[in-house]
Amino acid sequence: EQLRHMLQAMPKAELHIHIEGSLEPELIFELAQRNGVSLPYASVEALRQAYAFTDLQSFLDIYYAGASVLLTERDFYDMTMAYLQRAAADNVRHAEIFFDPQTHTARGVPFQTVVDGIWRACQDGPISATLIMCFLRHLSEEEAIATLEEALPFRDKIIGVGLDSSEVGHPPEKFARVFERARNLGLHLVAHAGEEGPPAYIESALDVLNVERIDHGVRCLEDPDLTARLVREQMALTVCPLSNIKLRVFDVMGDSNLRRLLDAGLAATVNSDDPAYFGGYVNDNYLAAFDALPLDVNHARQLARNSFAAAFLEPERKRAWL
Ligand code: HPA
Ligand code: ZN
Repeated sequence: EQLRHMLQAMPKAELHIHIEGSLEPELIFELAQRNGVSLPYASVEALRQAYAFTDLQSFLDIYYAGASVLLTERDFYDMTMAYLQRAAADNVRHAEIFFDPQTHTARGVPFQTVVDGIWRACQDGPISATLIMCFLRHLSEEEAIATLEEALPFRDKIIGVGLDSSEVGHPPEKFARVFERARNLGLHLVAHAGEEGPPAYIESALDVLNVERIDHGVRCLEDPDLTARLVREQMALTVCPLSNIKLRVFDVMGDSNLRRLLDAGLAATVNSDDPAYFGGYVNDNYLAAFDALPLDVNHARQLARNSFAAAFLEPERKRAWL
């Protein structure tokens, strides 16, 4: 009980949250109505019932369908503000928010509408928040490069780039040139790797893309040499416990390797990934993991410390929260 209170109350940073994955079914229906978009689901309950995933792809299909109701700058603002308020209630002090511009520009929504709506909410919201633009790895590198070009007028609103969507079959090296370009622009670099994909994808995210954090990365433990390197470099892993269960990376929370990652000396953090789809925001992720695994107050402190240490923030700003 004391531990639960501590997990909820401790200041934390969230480093792995897809803003489109924070779109709750109720808001999907509200935006559909507001925008005259028809949904293939009769009700909020029917939509929620469809959230039964077997793997990453089965989730992504529904996640992209949900995002189809986002059309105006106000829609992006409302979605982002709802997340920031919910995160503040979990004592998140700082969030680095992923967004997927290609999911929207492919539907004819202007890039500017997407960035301005999300960014304005970050300015108005109750917590510190910055933006990381993700490339969809199931699309081509040419399309990623075109997206980076489109982002140039908004360079000051974006702190970094990431890589998400279908992992297996789309290794990091497919995006070597666009990440090199982003690096030259002074953007921070992250990539999803080792969620469903093999440890080799974590290695190429480091060696080919030069990323500064690995999103998920839980499959690193399959490779002892890679694990030793990640420990040596204190490379942050943005672990998402509930996501891993819902997408069947692990069968049950008791099988999560979060405790083993910490025991190995890895810089693991706890995050929500797509909270509207996976059954909870960041504190729900801490609570579910601590309920199922042998984790104590020291692990809690370590995870919160890791979250600020891995944040793309000035050291002085982090210190205030640590
Ligand atoms: N993995 C890959 N792509 C994603 C995810 C994820 O967990 N969430 C949203 N897009
Ligand atoms: Zn993710």
